[in-house]
Amino acid sequence: MYTLTRNMFIHPYFIMHFLFIMFLLPLLTFSYSLHAATSISVLAQGSSLFVEKKDHLVSPNRLFAAGFHEIGQNAYCFAIWFTQPMADGKLTLVWMANRDEPVNGKRSKFSLGKSGNLVLTDAGRRFWATDTKSNEPVQLKLLDSGNLVLTHMHNQSYVWQSFSSPTDTILPNQPFTKVTALTSSRSLTNFSSGYYKFYFDNDNVLKLRYNSDEISSIYFPRPWLLPWQAGRNPYTTRIFAMLDSKGRFTSTDDYNFNTSDNGKILQRRLTLDVDGNIRVYTLNKRGWSVSWQALSTTCAIHGICGPNSLCTYIPESGRTCACMHGYKAKNKSDSSLGCEPTFEFSKPPEHYDFIKIPFVEFYGFDSQRLYRSTLNECQKSCLDDSNCKGFQYTFNHDSKLFECFVKTLLYNGFYKGTPFNSYLKLPKTYVLSYNEKVDIESQLVCSTSEIELKRPYDKNSANGTLKFMLWFSSILGGIEVLCFLFFYYFTKTPSSTTTQAYLAIATGFKRFTYDEIVKVSRKFSEEIGRGGGGIVYKGKLSDNRVVAIKVLHDAIQGEAEFLAEMSTIGRINHMNLIETYGYCAEGNHRILVYEYMENGSLAQNLSGANKLGWHKRFEIAIGVAKGLAYLHEECLEWVLHCDVKPHNILLDANYNPKVADFGLSKLFHQDVKEDSAFSCIRGTRGYMAPEWVFNLPITSKVDVYSYGMVVLEMITGRSPTSDQGISYNEIVEKKRLVDWVKEKVHKAPENLTEIQIMEILDPMMIEEFENLQIKKLLCVAVQCVEEDKDVRPTMSEVVKMLRHSGND
Ligand SMILES: *[C@@H]1O[C@H](CO)[C@@H](O)[C@H](O)[C@H]1NC(C)=O
Ligand SMILES: *[C@@H]1O[C@H](CO)[C@@H](O)[C@H](O)[C@H]1NC(C)=O
Ligand SMILES: *[C@@H]1O[C@H](CO)[C@@H](O)[C@H](O)[C@H]1NC(C)=O
Ligand SMILES: *[C@@H]1O[C@H](CO)[C@@H](O)[C@H](O)[C@H]1NC(C)=O
Repeated sequence: MYTLTRNMFIHPYFIMHFLFIMFLLPLLTFSYSLHAATSISVLAQGSSLFVEKKDHLVSPNRLFAAGFHEIGQNAYCFAIWFTQPMADGKLTLVWMANRDEPVNGKRSKFSLGKSGNLVLTDAGRRFWATDTKSNEPVQLKLLDSGNLVLTHMHNQSYVWQSFSSPTDTILPNQPFTKVTALTSSRSLTNFSSGYYKFYFDNDNVLKLRYNSDEISSIYFPRPWLLPWQAGRNPYTTRIFAMLDSKGRFTSTDDYNFNTSDNGKILQRRLTLDVDGNIRVYTLNKRGWSVSWQALSTTCAIHGICGPNSLCTYIPESGRTCACMHGYKAKNKSDSSLGCEPTFEFSKPPEHYDFIKIPFVEFYGFDSQRLYRSTLNECQKSCLDDSNCKGFQYTFNHDSKLFECFVKTLLYNGFYKGTPFNSYLKLPKTYVLSYNEKVDIESQLVCSTSEIELKRPYDKNSANGTLKFMLWFSSILGGIEVLCFLFFYYFTKTPSSTTTQAYLAIATGFKRFTYDEIVKVSRKFSEEIGRGGGGIVYKGKLSDNRVVAIKVLHDAIQGEAEFLAEMSTIGRINHMNLIETYGYCAEGNHRILVYEYMENGSLAQNLSGANKLGWHKRFEIAIGVAKGLAYLHEECLEWVLHCDVKPHNILLDANYNPKVADFGLSKLFHQDVKEDSAFSCIRGTRGYMAPEWVFNLPITSKVDVYSYGMVVLEMITGRSPTSDQGISYNEIVEKKRLVDWVKEKVHKAPENLTEIQIMEILDPMMIEEFENLQIKKLLCVAVQCVEEDKDVRPTMSEVVKMLRHSGND
């Protein structure tokens, strides 16, 4: 067992160990005979799986298992799961037979009857059945794909299969059809059918729908778009969708996408999550990571907060729902029930007034729409209507008119940004007491209650004995471990045990000790970059992941502040943002460990010999925009980058861009702008927005500006910081590139001729550029570098504009 050859005969430990083993062996075998779960590959006709025995079917590749799974206290479902447990010991379920009616932990069984029927019973009562019949012999098998199939013995044809009745997950190569649908779980702890559904609608288009007792509404694709406007094709006779084993999803309605890690055969699953979003997850050493999701703005999903409530997304705590002024939570422990007014709406109009809730949209439930309206007219329409709860007053950029939507119910509320504004109807006394802040008191917490089945059975006496023996062996086990440690400490035999402990599987965001960092970086031997407040070294983790290690200098020394920032950074997960694996905060050391990018920075790839071609540049421009849009919108400007430049945009082996160094700006003392809402160090000369120079408020538009500069640099091949050595005034310096482009473009990039484009374009790309894409990108970049921040688009608008032009 242990390599004790050297000390074997002289050390007292060995004797103890021997005695212990002799004593424990019979106990172990005894408890095993009671509790050993057996795994079988086939369930034959006339046999059963019993909940007490924990028997289960295993697929030949051992990736999947099927059997009883405990989903709450004494509540079991017959399920299929991935055999690989997560770091917290939990299993990932992919299918459930009886999600809405769990069975007891005793006297429940799953049987294949003589007639060919599969039945789940609890103390004799039927809970679920396939209602299949077969005159020929059948058997039940779990295939390598995760499909549980009832097959004819002679020709292997399927009588029944779990793939045709998915719950909330489909696996690679599982057909999704007109008759299948995914239904989310009720909550993270309650697996019964929840509010969201993913399905092919009657118009043959894949949709996401929110369904509660009171309300049913489609939120994906955007309900105001016609199928063709959403890029869908309803004209098809075959209705079918599938995620293939390489991470590519195709559907007959043209809803196709690739996961961020597509191309490789990896273990993936597509799940309709509790929050109503569809995500594809890929299994890796650290567990499941998101490789694609349908909606990037989680608050845009309907029904999340219930009526009269407002959804916000904060990276630290995720999504929260808050009641609006004058409203209180219906049930503090279940935010999806929403809020109710604390006043009456039945008084005469003169009792009411409005408060403005800027940037908020409430979708649906309009009793009137006025397409050309003043604010006064809109208010009057709402006052005159006793069912009106408020209205939305929005500037329509296309018609250049204000539109008024009178609401009878305030639902699906979230911060959508300009030009959305909502007005809430309240009694005048409430309007006076409104302090422009959403009442913190009325914040709701999400329900996490667990399922409990209250049908107790007599405890049998064998259980008591077994418990005693388990306790006894645990205590002995404890002694054993102590003895071993004691022995180990005193003999100090060099062995590989220390490295074994060191190899503990990295789970999620890790805190490293300084000694570990020294080891991982091989004493900081390979420097791969400088800047952004620190030096970057290459390193290798014990699990062979290659990493970049950034040693911050001048970072704030307060450990609590540093950890708070780290917890924000650690939660951010997007394919165009660098993934941070961990950090070290020990003594004065402040170090970040993140993924290593094979192809270095965009700056390196724009200069030097290996210049990037047009297509790659265009994809990089879109990717960077997506990454920044995620930081800005999803996080409601909680994370401004403040230093977007080609040096901070890194490229992986396939030249996919990832933005690095976000969230770091708060970590430094130097040059902090105290007066702005966001503390942010100044960016880099050449890429800095005019707000810095003129001391204007700092918003996410500073990143938009820097992004515009980066795009101009990618198009023209000219760096806004070139001509190094001559210290120009900052404004003059950066004006040069912007003005040069604007002169050439004459404010109308759409009408550029090919000759004009060639004049602007980086000479390296003349051969392969695409007229339309260049015009679009120029157009976007020129808007981004507008002096007036309000004229610049937001990052998500940039993404939209570019998406509709490229080949994607
Ligand atoms: C997904 O990748 C494949 C192969 O690279 C490509 O042919 C296909 O067009 C991609 N689909 C989408 C939607 O990007
Ligand atoms: C809120 O909901 C929980 C669980 O759904 C329930 O147990 C509780 O009684 C409810 N509270 C109120 C005040 O209705
Ligand atoms: C789980 O959800 C179902 C359906 O929504 C509900 O009936 C049941 O009471 C929930 N269980 C608990 C413990 O909240
Ligand atoms: C980019 O990365 C790939 C994969 O590591 C490598 O083959 C290629 O040479 C790299 N290109 C450059 C310019 O470094």
